[in-house]
Amino acid sequence: MRLCAPAKINWTLEVLGRRDDGYHEVRSLMQTVGPCDAVEFTAADRLMLEVEGEDRPSQDNLVLRAAALLEGGSRGAHIRLSKHVPVAAGLGGGSSDAAAALRGLNALWRLGCGDAQLVEMAAEVGSDVAFFIHGGTALAEGRGERVTPLPDVAPVWLVLLVPPFRLPEKTRRMYDALRPADFSDGERAEALQRRLQRGLPITDGLLHNAFERAAYEVFQGLRTYRDALLAAGARRVHVAGSGPSLFSLGSDEDDARATHDRLRQPGGNALLVRTLTAAEAQIIER
Ligand code: C5P
Repeated sequence: MRLCAPAKINWTLEVLGRRDDGYHEVRSLMQTVGPCDAVEFTAADRLMLEVEGEDRPSQDNLVLRAAALLEGGSRGAHIRLSKHVPVAAGLGGGSSDAAAALRGLNALWRLGCGDAQLVEMAAEVGSDVAFFIHGGTALAEGRGERVTPLPDVAPVWLVLLVPPFRLPEKTRRMYDALRPADFSDGERAEALQRRLQRGLPITDGLLHNAFERAAYEVFQGLRTYRDALLAAGARRVHVAGSGPSLFSLGSDEDDARATHDRLRQPGGNALLVRTLTAAEAQIIER
C-alpha cells in the first residue's frame, strides 16, 4: 500500500494572539501542493521505519508517534518513507508524513477509524497534522488542529524556493519571534474564503503571512532568495508557513515554468509545483 504525503502552503496565515497553554491561536487557509513524500506500508511483525533521502534520525520522526498513538505499539508494519518534501522548511513535510501514517496504518490494520477519529489523533501528534487528513483546501483554526475542508481551488502553479537554512526547534522559535504587531484578527482568511466560494481566482494581494517580518529577521540571507525569485520574473514572493521556504504564484503553468527555469538561486532547491486537490492528496495505491 502506498500513500502520497504532499507538502502544504498557507494562502493566508494569521496569528490572532498568544494563548495561556503556550500555543498561539491561528486562522489559516491551507493548501496541499506538490511535491509528495511516498509512504509505503507492508505487513510485518514489528514496527519498522525506513527513511530514504533525509538526514535526520528517524527516532523523532512524527510517523512513529502517529503509529504509536494509533495502536499503542502493539502491531507491526514496515513503513518505507521516501522524502521529497524538504524538511523543516515551512512546507509541513513531517506533519504530512504523520497524517499519511495514520491513514495508511488505519487501512493496513483494518482498524476502521473514521476521519473524525484520525483528525483527533492527528491533533495530538502536531498542530498541522489534522489538516493533512483531508488535504486540498481547508480552513485551520485553534492552534491549527480545527480543520474545515473547503471546495478545491482551480489548479494554481507555483515556484517553491527552499533555502538550505537550518534552525533547531524552528516552529517554536518562529512563534516566539512574533510581536503583537504581527497579530491580526483573522479577517483575511474569511475574505479569501468568500472570494473562493464565488469561484474567483487566488491573487497575490489576497495572500498574507504573520511570519513574513520574522522570517526575514530570523533567517539572515533570506532576502537574497527573495531577490533571486523576483529577478527570475516572480511578481510577488511569499513566505511558506513559518519559513524559510518562499513561493511565487504563476499566472499559469508556462509562466511558473519560465520563472523556475530563469531562477539563478544562491544554492537551495527550486521546485515547480501545482496545487493538489483533496482527492489527489488522499490517493491510496494498493
Ligand atoms: O504543534 P507543534 O508540535 O507543531 O508545535 C511546535 C511548537 O510551535 C509548539 O510547541 C509551540 O511553541 C509553537 N506553536 C504555537 N502555536 C501554534 C502551533 C505551534 O505557538 N498554533
